[in-house]
Amino acid sequence: MEKIINIAIDGPSGSGKSTLAKAVAKHYGFIYVDTGALYRTVGLYIQRKGIEPTDKAAIVEALDGLDIGMRLVDGGGVVFLDGKPVGDEIRTPKSSMYASHVSAIPEVRAYLLDLQRDIARKNSTVMDGRDIGTVILPNAHVKLYLVANDEIRAKRRYAELLEKGQKVTEAEVLSDMRQRDSNDSSREVAPAVAAEDAVYLDNGALTPEETLDRAREIIDGALADAKI
Ligand code: DC
Repeated sequence: MEKIINIAIDGPSGSGKSTLAKAVAKHYGFIYVDTGALYRTVGLYIQRKGIEPTDKAAIVEALDGLDIGMRLVDGGGVVFLDGKPVGDEIRTPKSSMYASHVSAIPEVRAYLLDLQRDIARKNSTVMDGRDIGTVILPNAHVKLYLVANDEIRAKRRYAELLEKGQKVTEAEVLSDMRQRDSNDSSREVAPAVAAEDAVYLDNGALTPEETLDRAREIIDGALADAKI
């Protein structure tokens, strides 16, 4: 059997993780797993149930009725809620805020842990998130930590939201992003920090193509060093 290879890509929102992870997965023929989509889907579920994003006890209780899974569709992991694939409804600013709140709850993280590890155990994956290199796949063959300053990240996210037809201002996106950065990195459980053995990649001044080229150099070097 071919060796299973796992690549972890972590970093704050808007750092270009998903763009890079998709491109890396395509290049190496691996499966792309967007773990943020899992937290976003739990957030959507909580929102649909009418539970406040800050009501931790109610959220933990509601996990009993949560039917979430990830299936491989066209070489990528797609999140299903109640048997149906989720779409762009998990990408609104409101969903982002729900996701940020639910992702700070240890029970939610524990609930999603095996689901993420199972996929990586069975398939060569490029997994993006906040704690992939530190918690989910501490033995990943390569760990990248993508960074870019928050104004650049907010501009990118704003452009994405505009393209999806959402009515937001750039200032709102920047302020939401700062709030979420602070929630994500200061929470007690699995804070968004780089693993000790992660390679930092600042792509603030790079195009997506240049970011991919740099990532390929790092990945090819790490795999060659590990004689893979
Ligand atoms: O990457 P994203 O913006 O789609 O993530 C949505 C939220 O989920 C974000 O607030 C951080 C959280 N998240 C997390 O805590 N751990 C992950 N592995 C992925 C996302």
